[in-house]
Amino acid sequence: MSTEIEDGATETVKRRYDRIAPIYDRVVQTAERGRFKSWRSLLWNKAEGKEILEVGAGTGLNFLYADAINHNLTAIDLSDGMLRYARQRMAKAQIKVELLQMDVQNLHFQDDSFDSVIGSFLFCSVSHPLTGLKEVKRVCKPGGKVVLLEHGLSENRVIGALMNAADPIVAWVTGAEHINRKIEEGVVESGLRLENITKLDRTGIFKLLEARKI
Ligand SMILES: C[S@@+](CC[C@H](N)C(=O)[O-])C[C@H]1O[C@@H](n2cnc3c(N)ncnc32)[C@H](O)[C@@H]1O
Repeated sequence: MSTEIEDGATETVKRRYDRIAPIYDRVVQTAERGRFKSWRSLLWNKAEGKEILEVGAGTGLNFLYADAINHNLTAIDLSDGMLRYARQRMAKAQIKVELLQMDVQNLHFQDDSFDSVIGSFLFCSVSHPLTGLKEVKRVCKPGGKVVLLEHGLSENRVIGALMNAADPIVAWVTGAEHINRKIEEGVVESGLRLENITKLDRTGIFKLLEARKI
């Protein structure tokens, strides 16, 4: 299924990820060997139910931690380039994931389709994060869980001020990435009930957000 990309900003994000897809895994590999590994398994451990949607799956790094036997997995991403690598990873890991190219801001699923919706390091680059979070809420079943591993504005005043100052430059250079978002505020604004925030590092930049559709 192909997605209609309705705004130029999202088109720019897509082009950026199509371009960096061949080197993405190499860029993140040091972090993957370290803390990201345990954070990704934590993300899966918090998911509930059988029908799981992963939004912004990228090259499928989370698939390595998925329980594909007890879950029906669907994963979407905006970038065909990133999905090509996700497809290879899925084949190598011999797990079954329904992979679809789709914009999280315009999901082609019925309301109340999934027991859990998960995602990692996604909402820093979604052009209209609140629209995406409202879509996540829409496709989640009532009582279902939303689990997001995200980075955002540091809670440390000095680091936070530096991040705010650097954000326009980072966004301009990358064409996609924002380093000063407060994703937890978007989660609340979307109408999901934010149930838990696990701070994953001392600066308060990395967080695991657990929310529920009520
Ligand atoms: C930093 S990467 C993270 C990929 C993966 N979740 C991970 O943890 O490695 C961000 C991903 O979000 C995807 N993305 C950005 N905007 C999106 C959107 N509007 N809809 C769906 N995916 C999007 C990008 O294509 C990219 O694969």
